[in-house]
Amino acid sequence: MASYDVIVIGAGPGGYVAAIRCAQLGLKTACVEGRETLGGTCLNVGCIPSKALLHATHQLHEAEHNFATMGLKGKSPSVDWKQMQAYKQDVVDQNTKGIEFLFKKNKIDWLKGWGSIPETGKVKVGDEVHEAKSIIVATGSVPSSLPGIEIDEKTVVTSTGALSLAKTPKKMVVIGAGVIGLEMGSVYARLGAEVTVVEFLDHITPGMDPEVQRTLQRILKKQGMEFIMGAAVQGVETKGGKATVTYKLRKDDSEATVDTDVVLVATGRKAYTDGLGLADLGVEMTDRGQVKTDSHWATNVKGIYAIGDAITGPMLAHKAEDEGMAVAEVIAGKHGHVNYGVIPGVIYTHPEVSSVGETEDTLKKAGRAYKVGKFSFMGNARAKAIFAAEGFVKILADKETDRILGAHIIGPAAGDLIHEICVAMEFGASAQDLALTCHAHPTYSEAVREAALACGDGPIHA
Ligand code: FAD
Ligand code: NAI
Repeated sequence: MASYDVIVIGAGPGGYVAAIRCAQLGLKTACVEGRETLGGTCLNVGCIPSKALLHATHQLHEAEHNFATMGLKGKSPSVDWKQMQAYKQDVVDQNTKGIEFLFKKNKIDWLKGWGSIPETGKVKVGDEVHEAKSIIVATGSVPSSLPGIEIDEKTVVTSTGALSLAKTPKKMVVIGAGVIGLEMGSVYARLGAEVTVVEFLDHITPGMDPEVQRTLQRILKKQGMEFIMGAAVQGVETKGGKATVTYKLRKDDSEATVDTDVVLVATGRKAYTDGLGLADLGVEMTDRGQVKTDSHWATNVKGIYAIGDAITGPMLAHKAEDEGMAVAEVIAGKHGHVNYGVIPGVIYTHPEVSSVGETEDTLKKAGRAYKVGKFSFMGNARAKAIFAAEGFVKILADKETDRILGAHIIGPAAGDLIHEICVAMEFGASAQDLALTCHAHPTYSEAVREAALACGDGPIHA
């Protein structure tokens, strides 16, 4: 038995970051992980492998659609799926091994195996019981399927199966037009599959700016993805390695089917806390199975904290990381803080989509007076040069004070551009502050400045 100041359960972006920050703050720290490798969902079967496949297939798209225009002639590359998978795995391995290195560097013990909390102050891993003054639950989330749909990770897959299909399918049905559905759907559409997205709602990507939703759907359609909207999936039948998806259109209750090679079920994820023994300890949970915490990530049981996908809030790696750093500081007696109003969200389709802060809907609901500054990438020279002038930057600012309240971007490098606005919001900046900041030419970020100018006297290039 070993004694620690802190034991973190789960080594995803929440858990491994919490462990590193605890160690940096002088706390004797261990992290329990049941997977073979560190890094959690994000590094192993989430953010990282999906972005590797998005990158590789985007290169293919560029070769097929834009190379000839730029005078780069010749046959488009053919796809070696086995090699693409090997490249993806290499990217994953580099990253997971990187966390192992960081654990060693920070003298964090990796307790290999599945952990449980038999009593407060104790963590059991295999046959060993370790002592800890504080325990952080960072056990993340798992895919949530639909009732009556059986996942076999071959024909009917979650995102995990979709990242490692044995071969590229000719047809794919994606259930759910959320982040996973559109990212993984893009990968297979670019690889030549007929991708049909079946979505319950009348719009894609719930919670996003409606103009961004419409623009993204239009562009993805142009890229070959089909959408069946307002459709409730009734079931999936598999036979001989193929599948038939039955859905009901909500507008008239009519039923229809679509045949396919692979079905990706991408209808959300749920918190994972199985086997920890939280119920026996009396740890309060939400009605959606998440661990309930206060504003300092403490549960109702003394010495037990929780962060990341296992608690409420957006299921995002950077949200989990921020909570990991903050809870470590709280445990070390400092003032950990997360500003939940400034957590960006990014969809890594092409074009990328990003957002932060308020939407027009949330502002209208709150009865707040706001103004909109919008600038199209059509007026951005750099975007035109890379065939990515579709899309726009939209900044929402307080009508009276000009303070930036939110931003929504669809266009090149949107996932990076959003951070300039995040920093501005953290500093309480006005749209004019952004507009008066010199932006290098020619860059995509000039579109952010122009949107900020559009909140005032007007943009120059529109
Ligand atoms: P997790 O990463 O889920 O880690 C939890 C870890 O705890 C797991 O490794 C698990 O094995 C371990 N564990 C669980 N129970 C125990 C136990 N009892 N004992 C020991 N270990 C245990 N987010 C983004 O921000 N950007 C993206 O681009 C992005 N892309 C994604 C793509 C896909 C396909 C998916 C599925 C998710 C993506 N996400 C993305 C979401 C992101 O992966 C999660 O929000 C993030 O991983 C949550 O971090 P976490 O530390 O809370 O949990
Ligand atoms: P999601 O919540 O983003 O989307 C699920 C979609 O499925 C919604 O549009 C919903 O209306 C639809 N849906 C639900 N039930 C349905 C039904 N019966 N029939 C048809 N459609 C139905 O969930 P998703 O895409 O599975 O992602 C899970 C989590 O992973 C997200 O919370 C996201 O934050 C995270 N993630 C983040 C990424 C990023 O940051 N780039 C990438 C991938 C995942």
